Amino acid sequence: MDDRTERLRKIKDEIIGAKNSPLYGYRTQNKYFPVIGEGSHHAKIMFIGEAPGKTEAETGRPFCGAAGRVLDELLESINLNRKEVYITNIVKDRPPMNRDPLPKEINFYAPFLDRQIEIIKPKVIAALGRFSMAYIMEKFGLKSELESISKIHGRIFAAIAPYGEIKIIPLYHPAVAVYGTSKEILKKDFKILKKFAD
Ligand code: URA
Repeated sequence: MDDRTERLRKIKDEIIGAKNSPLYGYRTQNKYFPVIGEGSHHAKIMFIGEAPGKTEAETGRPFCGAAGRVLDELLESINLNRKEVYITNIVKDRPPMNRDPLPKEINFYAPFLDRQIEIIKPKVIAALGRFSMAYIMEKFGLKSELESISKIHGRIFAAIAPYGEIKIIPLYHPAVAVYGTSKEILKKDFKILKKFAD
């Protein structure tokens, strides 16, 4: 096992055993799985969503329900495969009734996400949706540039990670495209990601 795999495995074990998580009780009552993340441990592009939905919590895999099908279609539209990128969420357990994550839930899980970023060292973070956008932009010192996602989706923000340069790209959450017309906007924004994939 390489060092990255081992360190990511440790994060997984810690989250599985995180009895102090505000969502641990809900997870175990429903026999849900935490959703840690999946994809290449050497990915150049990391997608960060919000929190697992029901299908994700039942399988332990990120973006495998309706929003995941949209994400797959978007990846395909730029000839990217799930295996080449890394896909995760800020919050690793499903919030009840798919409600928005609470600040205490984001605060609990964010250090695990921070470690995933430090291990995988992506060149680009695609922040899916407003919670992910806000957390990542603040984390990388871009708080003053934070605006509503309708204003800054598809823009490239340059920042410095502990391991070098990084680009942050806020994108609409794929769930908004499940029923809406925003898929075309997402498709257009995804084209920007393409050039970072090679
Ligand atoms: N929505 C998310 O934000 N993440 C998932 O994994 C699934 C749906």
